[in-house]
Amino acid sequence: MKRLPIGILGSGKGSNCRAILERIRSGDLAAEARVVISDVLDAPILEIAREFFVANAYLPPGQFRTRLEPEAEEELVKMLREAGVDLVVLAGFMRVLHAPMLKAFPRRIINIHPSLTGCTVHYVDEKIDHGQIVAQREVAVLPNDTPETLHARIQIAERELYPAVIAEFCEKCPAPDL
Ligand code: GRF
Repeated sequence: MKRLPIGILGSGKGSNCRAILERIRSGDLAAEARVVISDVLDAPILEIAREFFVANAYLPPGQFRTRLEPEAEEELVKMLREAGVDLVVLAGFMRVLHAPMLKAFPRRIINIHPSLTGCTVHYVDEKIDHGQIVAQREVAVLPNDTPETLHARIQIAERELYPAVIAEFCEKCPAPDL
């Protein structure tokens, strides 16, 4: 069976990562999570990877707050290449990526973020939450919504949309037969 090898990067909670790994485990998503990488040593997303028996690693980000140090970004490319990753999935990764990653994986890095009335999956470029849109989902705003209740509903939509988008990548660019 053809499975798209993916790598997941995240800095925090990992609910999107969990949704993706659950879909893979249940057979709904023809991807193979080769590695989960975090720039935060004790990020729950790494625990989730371990729970699903997926290789996982902490990547020391270096001295900057919003980006990886160039050496760290080169190291990230190396780790993803060694893992044979064809699609890089950002799931709450709190660092802006730059040339090493963008050149190594052109149109092969996607991100999800909450947008005004829902969520957006887009290709990653050098700007925050920017880049060609791949898919969007709307979420209704209810009369009694607070920012928290709306955000919670958006995150439910994210956990539906992201695996669905990855499934499309699996269909469009399947990995070669093993
Ligand atoms: C998500 O809401 C995503 O839109 C944003 O970061 C959050 C990550 O949440 N980019 P989680 O770690 O997947 O739970």
